[in-house]
Amino acid sequence: MRQDTDAVLARSLSILGSDESEGTILQRLCNHIHSSVDGCDWVGFYIVIPGTRELALGPYAGEPTDHLRIPFGRGICGQAAEAERTFVVDDVTLESNYLSCSPRVQSEVVIPVFDEGRVVGELDIDSHTPAAFGPPLRGLLERIASECGRLVAALMPT
Ligand code: SME
Repeated sequence: MRQDTDAVLARSLSILGSDESEGTILQRLCNHIHSSVDGCDWVGFYIVIPGTRELALGPYAGEPTDHLRIPFGRGICGQAAEAERTFVVDDVTLESNYLSCSPRVQSEVVIPVFDEGRVVGELDIDSHTPAAFGPPLRGLLERIASECGRLVAALMPT
């Protein structure tokens, strides 16, 4: 990690506590994780579209992706939204239900974001390194995602 876990968490919480708009805060958080944490080569939020079982791409840092909308159940993102739990994929080439964002991606973590007990979106991170998301990094990212519920809910399209 380019910065240690405590520093990344402290900076993330500081960004999340700022008084900017929800979209700006989550964009800055993506930029921070992308630039500070080794192995986080694409960092973004998908947001649940209310009244549907579909996710829409929200703020992200990294290369543009073709996956602007993802139905529940499809890909790692759709599976995590449906199952309401974190998915860690150490080797994306072994996954049959996977949506490729870039041929360089080798591993991925998707963490659902909850607000008032319901899934409102998720934090999706891709890595160009295999098995990049071991327990310490997963724990850090889950801690950060647990603080994002209200902000992600505010970005849900009405
Ligand atoms: N790989 C994801 C799709 C989103 S991109 O990684 C940005 C998936 O399988 O759901």
